Amino acid sequence: MARSSRAGGGPAARSAQRAVDLALAELQRRFGLGRSLAAPGWVRERVLAVLSAVAARHGVSPLAAAERLRDDREAIEEIVSALRVGETRFYRDPIIWEAISASVLPRLPPDLPIAGLSAGCSTGEEAYTLAMVLASAGRRFSVLGVDRAAPAIEAAREGVYSAEAVDQLPPSFVQRYCEEKGGALHVGQQLREVVSFEVCDLVHAVPSGGFQIIFFKNVLLYLAEPAGDAVARRLAAELGPGGLLFSAASEAPRLCGAGLTPVKVNAHVTAFRAPGA
Ligand SMILES: C[S@@+](CC[C@H](N)C(=O)[O-])C[C@H]1O[C@@H](n2cnc3c(N)ncnc32)[C@H](O)[C@@H]1O
Repeated sequence: MARSSRAGGGPAARSAQRAVDLALAELQRRFGLGRSLAAPGWVRERVLAVLSAVAARHGVSPLAAAERLRDDREAIEEIVSALRVGETRFYRDPIIWEAISASVLPRLPPDLPIAGLSAGCSTGEEAYTLAMVLASAGRRFSVLGVDRAAPAIEAAREGVYSAEAVDQLPPSFVQRYCEEKGGALHVGQQLREVVSFEVCDLVHAVPSGGFQIIFFKNVLLYLAEPAGDAVARRLAAELGPGGLLFSAASEAPRLCGAGLTPVKVNAHVTAFRAPGA
């Protein structure tokens, strides 16, 4: 259904979609990325935007630009960096946050300080959401967010967001943990003191730390299979006793394939542990 609707339109639209298909096939050939990238609409839009820019530079159509991607390393790199731009939201996938509050935290010893990690944190929304969930459960905690993109980490450290960014957050979290200043929302000092951010390329190193909760969510998409699987295993090895790694539901098959052990948190949410843990 989704495929036929995007394939609709005139010859120009069909040619543009064919160009995107070719680019995704090239990403698959080079990095093992294309298959996992095929579904989300925002990925197709970004790939098409880059192809159109490349096409304009070379005075050709986006389809012709896609057909020569095999020999155009610069264009491939442009596409990859456009896709690395981090799409994220506060309280993304509410069922995961609800499962953490209702089923994960009550099973951890009440006096245990919780160490949380948002691996591939983009501009910080996931790390701050985790901090809000932990603070509202009355836990002592610290949260670290890491990302390879330095500008994203800079924005995360600032902790300033548009009013729309918190659309999905429970209103009580906004009231308790954010301050409105000049039309923007600032994450409050109480959380900023316990949430830190660092630039880190997970392919080269993962933070060490006996974490109780790791978010490694919507990042595998950007990593070729062997590298991504190795990152997942290294992150899982940094979980402390009873710790869990959370991903997007669509990433679960890949994490199982990487050897992580699935753990059913409730009827709707599955998290992961290190193999054999
Ligand atoms: C789509 S965002 C996901 C943000 C957040 N985890 C979420 O689910 O809302 C993906 C992030 O992963 C980051 N990323 C991609 N490859 C990475 C790597 N090798 N090391 C660290 N971060 C990486 C990107 O820079 C981007 O900010």
